[in-house]
Amino acid sequence: MTANQITFATPLTLEHARQLEELLRTLSPEEALWISGYLAGFTRQPAVSVVAAAVAATPPLLILYGSETGHAAALAKRMEEQAVARGLAAHAVDMAEFRPQELKEVRQLALLTSTYGEGDPPDSAAGFYEFLHGRKAPRLEQTRFAVLGLGDSTYERFCQTAKDFDQRLEELGARRVQDRADCDVDYEAPAAAWIDAVLTGFAGEAATPAIVVTPAPVERVAPVARVAPVARVDRKHPFPAVILDSLVLNGRGSDKITRHVELSLAGSGLTYVPGDSLGVLPENDPDAVAELIETLGLSASERVPGGDVGDIPLAEALARAYEVTTLTPRFIEHYAEIAQSDPLRRLARPENRAELRAYQADRQIIDVVSEFPIAGLDGKTLVGMLRKLQPRLYSLASSQTAFPDEAHLTVAVVRYPSHARLRKGVASAYLSERRGIDDTVPVYVERNKNFRLPADPATPIIMIGAGTGVAPFRAFMQERALGSCGPSWLFFGDRHFRTDFLYQLEWQRLLRDGALSRMDVAFSRDQADKMYVQHRLREHAREVYAWLQDGAHVYVCGDASRLAPDVHAALVDIVADQGKLDHAQAEDVIKRLHQDKRYQRDVY
Ligand SMILES: Cc1cc2nc3c(=O)[nH]c(=O)nc-3n(C[C@H](O)[C@H](O)[C@H](O)COP(=O)(O)OP(=O)(O)OC[C@H]3O[C@@H](n4cnc5c(N)ncnc54)[C@H](O)[C@@H]3O)c2cc1C
Ligand SMILES: Cc1cc2nc3c(=O)[nH]c(=O)nc-3n(C[C@H](O)[C@H](O)[C@H](O)COP(=O)(O)O)c2cc1C
Repeated sequence: MTANQITFATPLTLEHARQLEELLRTLSPEEALWISGYLAGFTRQPAVSVVAAAVAATPPLLILYGSETGHAAALAKRMEEQAVARGLAAHAVDMAEFRPQELKEVRQLALLTSTYGEGDPPDSAAGFYEFLHGRKAPRLEQTRFAVLGLGDSTYERFCQTAKDFDQRLEELGARRVQDRADCDVDYEAPAAAWIDAVLTGFAGEAATPAIVVTPAPVERVAPVARVAPVARVDRKHPFPAVILDSLVLNGRGSDKITRHVELSLAGSGLTYVPGDSLGVLPENDPDAVAELIETLGLSASERVPGGDVGDIPLAEALARAYEVTTLTPRFIEHYAEIAQSDPLRRLARPENRAELRAYQADRQIIDVVSEFPIAGLDGKTLVGMLRKLQPRLYSLASSQTAFPDEAHLTVAVVRYPSHARLRKGVASAYLSERRGIDDTVPVYVERNKNFRLPADPATPIIMIGAGTGVAPFRAFMQERALGSCGPSWLFFGDRHFRTDFLYQLEWQRLLRDGALSRMDVAFSRDQADKMYVQHRLREHAREVYAWLQDGAHVYVCGDASRLAPDVHAALVDIVADQGKLDHAQAEDVIKRLHQDKRYQRDVY
């Protein structure tokens, strides 16, 4: 029996099922027999047996999640804990791990998902999404469900995947226990309210008896040694990482600025593996804050809510707690009313969404408040219209095995002119401008279990990345170069060979030492016709296919809107041509590679 098989046939979480499976594999028959007897005795303890009985009487709640950067996954796990605390048998399961054939057995379903790309499901949810929308999806008249969407309202297809799942489950006959909630980037509070409402709904239906769980007595163990506790570091409690180095990777004359930033993690207790990202909590540009305060005629010292830190001066709140550049539909709607502006009101109407998107695309908050001036606004009302300042993620470009106390990032500095202003990206500008000897940056580690080196270092890998998409491959190669490893092939693309060949010397050294077996580059603007990594892939179709047949894992990192679909199409064509398959069969092969975690993407 595999962990997947155990998962839904029993009340175990996937993680526990895996641990159990792992343990069972290592036990002798006598040990297994002893444990079965021990557990039989253990479950006769009243506290446990009451819970077990309640669990058995309640249809288990399946909490399915589709997540890329971990928000939906963390919520699903929290929901599982809260469900169990209420006496519901619940399992949080990644859609990537769920066998869709089991869906027809599910009576209670909570589905939590984010949205990516052009309103697409996260990579890990793609297979389940397709199954549910396909002809093999079962009728679900016996199923009660609720859907939670995580998204970002600045994207045109806000929470689209959640909307699709919600509609499809209804079409299949399932009945809603709670309306869908579409959460924007400040998702914590609305998501918590949704979880509470859904669990109340399911608990009410199951009519579960009240359960008093007596905790098992805790055995007191004398401390072995005094170890200074390492404070928890996460998004809410970031670590102030000292900047060790910051240098521009592009040569003179480049039209881009890409920085290599080295941060110290010494004393943080933070650990990461290649494929993970570093979350950075930036501060807004002081000039942008000052301009907004001045344009709106506000007082910088007015005290306003600053999030978790209580009331703070407006200037500080705008620097550290709120997004002061990103224009959202919500801001336009509220501002239209305050400014009593007919053009803005018209723009905010649901039927004018396309026009609103176009207006929003190259404007920021400062453009709106300058174009539609108002008097008498107070700071509290302003921050009420703004979104909380969001952390930004950067792929870790170093291996912690090679650099135990460091984290390296490859940051493309966002700068562009629009409507007679030079715009700067919040976090990339913040990172690039913090170069002082004592400068720190608040950081945490964001795990990405969907972008991992193969467990066996002998496995061949093909890495495909453009621009900053090469960052995790630097980490991959640092890790692989530490020991003996299988063949590694890097496809790298950027604009110009002369100025934009990021980490050129490092790749050349890895090639010389043999850790990197091959490297093919595509510099898009060095010739009349644009040349991208997908063109290089197609040029080497025969060898790429041979590597795939040798078990290579394929990794794609970088731009989500063009690179990822174009590389995907190239891979499908390569498999079709070389494997003499039709397009649908080739798509299936790629899909299987994805399911087997041999085709992994980290695109943004
Ligand atoms: C998992 C993951 C890994 C990532 N890894 C990296 C990495 O290794 N390196 C890296 O540099 N980035 C990486 N990113 C992207 C990074 O998180 C930020 O999104 C990026 O740095 C921009 O953030 P910012 O705060 O500087 O810009 P923001 O202030 O967020 O502004 C960005 C916005 O500006 C607008 N914009 C940008 N350019 C233009 C233009 N030319 N015209 C009009 N509007 C424009 C767009 O609306 C865009 O969304 C990653 C993202 C994810 C999700
Ligand atoms: C590259 C990228 C594309 C995104 N595209 C969308 C989108 O089209 N629609 C949307 O509502 N949210 C979009 N988002 C926002 C995510 O859905 C949101 O950050 C969510 O909280 C992520 O949850 P997760 O960590 O569980 O994946 C996008 C985010 C990124 C980084």
